[in-house]
Amino acid sequence: MTAAPLTAAPLTDGEIAAIRAQFPILGREVNGHPLVYLDSAATAQKPLRVLDAERAYYEHENAAVHRGAHTLAAEATELYEDARRTIAAFLAVDENEVVFTGNATEGINLIATAIGIASSRRGAGADFSTYALEPGDEILTTELEHHANLIPWQELAARTGATLRYIPVDDNGMLDLDAVPALITARTRVVAVSHVSNVTGFVTPLERIVPLARAVGALVVLDACQAAPHLALHPRALDVDVAVFSGHKLYGPTGIGVLYGRAAVLDALPPHLFGGSAITTVTMEKAHFLPAPQRFEPGTPRIAAAIGLAEAVRFVTEIGLDRIAATEHVLAERLHAALAEIQGIRVLGGSAVPAGERVALASVVVDGVHAHDAGQVLDDQGIAVRVGHHCAQPLHRRLGATASVRLSAGVHTTVAELDRAIEAVAGIRQFFGLEAATTAGGGAS
Ligand SMILES: Cc1ncc(COP(=O)(O)O)c(C=O)c1O
Repeated sequence: MTAAPLTAAPLTDGEIAAIRAQFPILGREVNGHPLVYLDSAATAQKPLRVLDAERAYYEHENAAVHRGAHTLAAEATELYEDARRTIAAFLAVDENEVVFTGNATEGINLIATAIGIASSRRGAGADFSTYALEPGDEILTTELEHHANLIPWQELAARTGATLRYIPVDDNGMLDLDAVPALITARTRVVAVSHVSNVTGFVTPLERIVPLARAVGALVVLDACQAAPHLALHPRALDVDVAVFSGHKLYGPTGIGVLYGRAAVLDALPPHLFGGSAITTVTMEKAHFLPAPQRFEPGTPRIAAAIGLAEAVRFVTEIGLDRIAATEHVLAERLHAALAEIQGIRVLGGSAVPAGERVALASVVVDGVHAHDAGQVLDDQGIAVRVGHHCAQPLHRRLGATASVRLSAGVHTTVAELDRAIEAVAGIRQFFGLEAATTAGGGAS
């Protein structure tokens, strides 16, 4: 399986309490109730040390990086590049393989756009032909992707004449892995998959996909957005060429994301945006570009956000991704076991996945109640969840739903909070005067 074996001990109640104390927002009330934040998959809350790191930078070192000769500029540059080193260590990769982006969406667009540019220059004395596409080439993705890992490939296919194919999902939202060998052909040039589904929480069995992609020389792009906060993310061990995630889902600031690219891949791709800071020499006719990562970071970068993200990475690293995974495993199984007992709701993906191969996340359809109304009932009780299609319309359509209510835990989530939310979900149908939902054993707790 792709998820690492869960050998570490879950966090103790005392440790979770100490973690919670670091999140100022968890102290607030919503609609007269203590906040239960179960929307970490949309965006995670921020520990104080992340906020402090950003603020300290603005208070003491703020300057444009890579440009000035003055002390502040040198210090800011050092902090920014130190943030890159921290991310590189977190991913167990080289620092020149870490590109800062705005978010995961931008990271995937970076790769797709760079391939598109390389493709449009093909045959015109282009320097960047390695990953250029032509009509008849194939891009493979899956039916469960977030739109961020679908639409950029649709656009790339439209621009290059390549064909977009996808690995289908079954009625349980599981990828049809038996279909993969026939879908990866000699024409497959890109394989783009998510590490963890943002709708079902399932961990993709990458070992059933990546070796086949490798065998035909396809570029493997991993959307690790929902994996990075929950599992140790080591792109080299997973043997992927590119992996992206968003800082804001990893307890870091908004406005910052990470793209890991294998050095040889980044060096073979043209820039996706053009401007200052990414070049060596410029004449009125032509520009020569710096190697990665600077080639992909034109303009003044997101300095403070990168510094904040590095602090967030230190935060999760100090807790231990293995212990976070073990804790979430307990929450995931409790959540799914309890939801499975509630009458009148459907959990997308249900219990199809073997224990240990999903993160603490569940998307629920409440019979007879629109997801937005269900979300409102939970919000009235101080419980924050995500409602809608979670930017995964094709998957919802495949599973016969237009929208769902998603509960997603974070490193600060307690069992008591989870139980409160489960009880609240069990009460939604009753609230709307529909047949009361019941939990087996008389309750969710
Ligand atoms: C699996 C997955 N991929 C990509 C994204 C896009 O992330 P962002 O909006 O931060 O770019 C998300 C966000 O929800 C996601 O869950």
